[in-house]
Amino acid sequence: MSELRYDGRVAVVTGAGAGLGRAYALLFGSRGAKVVVNDLGGGRHGDGKSSKAADDVVAEIKRMGGQAVADYNSVVEGDKIIKTALDAFGRVDIVVNNAGILRDKSFPRIAIGDWDIIQDVHLKGGFKTAQAAFPLFKQQKYGRLIFTASNSGLYGNFGQANYAAAKTGTLGLSSTIAIEGKKYNITSNVIVPTAASRLTEDILPPDVFNELKPELIAPVVAYLCHESCTESGSIIESAAGWAGKCHVIRANGKNLRKKVSDGVSIEDVRDNWEKVTDMNGARHFASIEEVTAELMASIGSDGGNSDGVQEGQSFNDKDAILYALGVGASVTNPGDLRFLYENHEDFSVLPTYLATLSVGALMSSSTMDNVVPGKTVSLENVLHGEQYLEVMDDFSAPKTFTNSMNTVEVLDKGSGAVIVTDVVSQDASGKPLWRNQIATFAVGAGQFGGPRSGNKLIPCVPKPNRSCDKSLSYKTSQDQAALFRLSGDVNPLHIDPNFAAVAGYKKPILHGLCSLGISVRLVLQAYAGNDPKLFKALKCRFVKPVLPGQTIKVDMWRAGNRIHFETSTVENNSVTISGSYVDLKSVVEVDSLALNNTSAMALQSDAIFEFIISKVNEDPAKAKAVNGIFLYIITKDGKQAKQWTMDLKAGKVYEGAPTGVKPNTTLTISDEDFVQLATGKLNPQSAFMKGKLKVTGNVMMAQKLGPLLKAADAKL
Ligand code: NAI
Repeated sequence: MSELRYDGRVAVVTGAGAGLGRAYALLFGSRGAKVVVNDLGGGRHGDGKSSKAADDVVAEIKRMGGQAVADYNSVVEGDKIIKTALDAFGRVDIVVNNAGILRDKSFPRIAIGDWDIIQDVHLKGGFKTAQAAFPLFKQQKYGRLIFTASNSGLYGNFGQANYAAAKTGTLGLSSTIAIEGKKYNITSNVIVPTAASRLTEDILPPDVFNELKPELIAPVVAYLCHESCTESGSIIESAAGWAGKCHVIRANGKNLRKKVSDGVSIEDVRDNWEKVTDMNGARHFASIEEVTAELMASIGSDGGNSDGVQEGQSFNDKDAILYALGVGASVTNPGDLRFLYENHEDFSVLPTYLATLSVGALMSSSTMDNVVPGKTVSLENVLHGEQYLEVMDDFSAPKTFTNSMNTVEVLDKGSGAVIVTDVVSQDASGKPLWRNQIATFAVGAGQFGGPRSGNKLIPCVPKPNRSCDKSLSYKTSQDQAALFRLSGDVNPLHIDPNFAAVAGYKKPILHGLCSLGISVRLVLQAYAGNDPKLFKALKCRFVKPVLPGQTIKVDMWRAGNRIHFETSTVENNSVTISGSYVDLKSVVEVDSLALNNTSAMALQSDAIFEFIISKVNEDPAKAKAVNGIFLYIITKDGKQAKQWTMDLKAGKVYEGAPTGVKPNTTLTISDEDFVQLATGKLNPQSAFMKGKLKVTGNVMMAQKLGPLLKAADAKL
């Protein structure tokens, strides 16, 4: 690893005679920079003066073989410090504004002198020094500036009103210089340190004090000042060998007006206060332009019954990966790596993530607040009814987009209202990227005199009237909802047992969007070779919830490029998603055999079936001689867990129900008993008599299976 060096660079560090400044100066000196060690050598409260502090540090740098000069000016005359640098070294590349003092007093006791001196040293000092260096930076098209703030400034601290105000001032100073300096390759950042020094010796507890070495912060400051670092306009907090960026964030807030023509009353503010201060979904804005653009977009839109625009929406690699994990993508399935590894050559986003994002956007907006006349629509009384998603353009990560939301229809179903919302996501040029339609059922919001049916809701399509072509299953984990909620839907119904109990469930339920994500992932596996680029659109209806831990089974029917699917839970054979389809650009027919490893539920019997598969592949003629189609239903803990098809007519054995053929014989047996049977420890006749083995259809044909299972016995 190459060392980051500062050869040929001149670094000015103010207040470098002690504490943090000294650590910065020593580090710059040890890495080849010529250092101006500024310090007026005063006391902690800004009293007195001495050249010793700066001289000692200069001597230390020289002892290490470095180059340094001392400067004893106060930062209030920062221009003189820059002159020292020019006189000694002819240029300035780096300025670290670090000098500081304290005049702690509770707010009413701050005398004007205590106020002025603190503003002078911290704020005016930084301003004077940086301003003197700026033209030099501009001319040489290079400069690195650091200002020093404090957690007291970011959060307030008892007895430090003067200091907190000055420190917060550096944030605005630095971020504005960052903007003005950008085109000249001048960066400006703020460091928020916590370190052991004379400023903190009576503030920090002694055991903590010893851990907070200034030397652990110096590399962070030095990195920000290196020519290879382009970070600018940022606030970096650092202490005890840790560093992290700080942001100002803003709530989504609430339009206080019901109609554009309305004014705003104090009561409107009171009534919306919860939304105004709700920090769920709060965001950082990268620039004043961004925040103003959002404000402009909201002007003219009303309190949210219809149109709403959300700018600056985005997702990155990590969001997409977290989502993929939430819907069961696994490294144990090699085809899923493209969803889990950002450096994979085909790194992809699962398309259903776009549906999840749209629902999250709708829920965090006020679009539905006032759409049903005289009724309240809130998180507590809405159910996700139907979803449509259509992809028009590339949806790879990272992505930034704008959502335009529009309530297109509100239907009166008596017991509730169905609110149909279109969410179109566009890029910066206004080009549509993808589009969602969300049908929300608002319980108890019916009977408002609205129409019972309409024509805007994109319809579901019934499944074909024949047995399915393919069926894949996935056993959800007990933590499935806990993981999925991190992708945005934090409704407590999915995690909080008390909340779930109040809503009438025995435990927190899985998100419908999670079941949908799993279902479409399995459809892509079965019919798209796992390639999300082949995805075009989907429509689904949520019927019943899935409980975390249950096994989801997805039955699929192909009709051209449309894959109809129905999702149910294996444990109680209950349909959870119906009337649904995925439209693909083209279909990749994947051999069922290749899909065997997609089920997350590993059973002991799997190994025996795998062995039978290898036997059948070795000698297909022998298998074909049996000339029968067998369906094995394997149970676990009294519930159906898996199906295996032995289509020996075609010489194929695969997991799942028979595809396109009818079984001659269906055998139902528990996982454990099947292993006993295959390993010869359980006799088929006695298993049958004891009710451990259930056989329907052609019973005689089952006996022909003996030799195959015997072969398994020999192997195991
Ligand atoms: P320190 O007291 O050890 O070092 C500050 C140095 O600045 C002293 O050597 C002092 O003589 C010099 N100085 C004071 N007024 C000056 C002036 N007008 N002109 C030139 N030099 C002057 O303090 P420490 O802790 O190293 O603080 C460095 C900076 O970090 C200060 O700006 C402080 O406010 C800030 N800070 C420190 C924190 C900490 O935990 N130590 C926490 C947050 C911010």
